[in-house]
Amino acid sequence: TQAPVNVTVTGAAGQIGYALLFRIASGQLLGQDKPVRLRLLEIPQAVKAAEGTALELEDGAFPLLAGIDIFDDPKQAFEGANIALLVGARPRTKGMERGDLLEANGGIFKPQGEAINAGAADDIKVLVVGNPANTNALIAKAHAPDVPAERFTAMTRLDHNRAIAQLAKKLGVSVSDIKKMTIWGNHSATQYPDIFNAEVKGQNAAEAVNDREWLENEFIPRVAKRGAEIIEARGASSAASAANAAIDHIYNWVNGTPEGDWVSMGVPSDGSYGVPEGLISSFPVVCKNGSYEIVQGLEINEFSRARIDASVAELVEERDAVTKLGLV
Ligand code: NAI
Repeated sequence: TQAPVNVTVTGAAGQIGYALLFRIASGQLLGQDKPVRLRLLEIPQAVKAAEGTALELEDGAFPLLAGIDIFDDPKQAFEGANIALLVGARPRTKGMERGDLLEANGGIFKPQGEAINAGAADDIKVLVVGNPANTNALIAKAHAPDVPAERFTAMTRLDHNRAIAQLAKKLGVSVSDIKKMTIWGNHSATQYPDIFNAEVKGQNAAEAVNDREWLENEFIPRVAKRGAEIIEARGASSAASAANAAIDHIYNWVNGTPEGDWVSMGVPSDGSYGVPEGLISSFPVVCKNGSYEIVQGLEINEFSRARIDASVAELVEERDAVTKLGLV
C-alpha cells in the first residue's frame, strides 16, 4: 500500500468543510487507491466542532482514511501537506467596506502562505475556496516565495459546473455532452462563462444555442449570480456544490483532464489572453501528470473580449488594493 497523502483543510468546521471532508475520506479527492491523512485547521473557538466532525469521520470507517489531526495553528496544520484546501475565510459582514474585507482576509491568508512556505511538502498543491478566492490566493502566493507560483490556484470550478448544467438544460442534452466550457476572470459577479469555445456533442455551443438574448440576459447573469440564487432559496450559501467543485478541481489537477476536454481554474497568469502576468485569473486549463497548462490559441470575439477585460479589471483593482495594504 502507498504512503498516505497529507490533505490540509482549513475552515474544517464550516458548512463546506462538513460536505467536503466525507468526500475526501471516501477517496473521491484523489482516486480510490490513495489513502489520505486529514490535517484540519480551525480557529480556536471552532476546534471543538471540528473534533465533532472528526468523530463522525471515524464512524464512517473509511478504508482510505489513514488519520485525522486537528490544529488551531497554521504552522502545524500545513506541516508536510501535499494538498491544501483553503476554505476558511472572513465573510463580508454588514457595513464592511471592501478594504476591510481584504484586510481581514489578509490576516488569514498571509500567515497561511507563510506556513505553507515553511512546512508544506515539495509537491504541495493549493486550492483557495474562501472568498474573495482569487485575491486570497494572490496573498497566500505572495508569502510563499519558495513554492512555485503555479501551485497556488483559486476555485472557479463551481462556476464552470454551473455553466455546464445551465447549458445542458437549455439544449436538453446531458451534462456529459458538453465539453470545453470556460470561466474567465474573477470568481465574482463579473466572471465570464464562455460558450463560444464550448462544444455540445462536437458542435460549437454558441451555434447550437443560437440565442443571443438567452446568452446575454439569462445564461451569463444566472451563472454569475447563482450563488445569490442559492442563498435566496436555501437560506444559506452553496456548500455541497462548492465542496463537489473543490473535489473536481483537485481530482483533475492530480489525475488529469479527459482527452478532448478542459476545465476552468483560477491560476497565476503567464500573460495569456492579455491577462496581466501574476494575477490569479480563471482560464481554460488542461491537466496532465499532476500539472496544468493554460489552453492556448482560442479565438476571443469582441463580445467575449469586453467581458474578460471587465472581470480582469476587477482583479487588477483587488490586487492594487491589497498591494496598498501591504498584503502582497
Ligand atoms: P462557514 O462560515 O460555514 O465556514 C467557514 C469556517 O472557516 C468556519 O468554521 C470558521 O471558523 C473557519 N475559519 C475562519 N477563519 C479561519 C482561519 N483563519 N483558519 C481556519 N479556519 C478559519 O463558510 P462556508 O460556507 O464553509 O464557506 C467558506 C468560504 O468559501 C467562504 O469564504 C465562502 O464565501 C467561500 N465559497 C467559495 C466558493 C467558490 O466557488 N470559490 C463557493 C462557495 C463558498
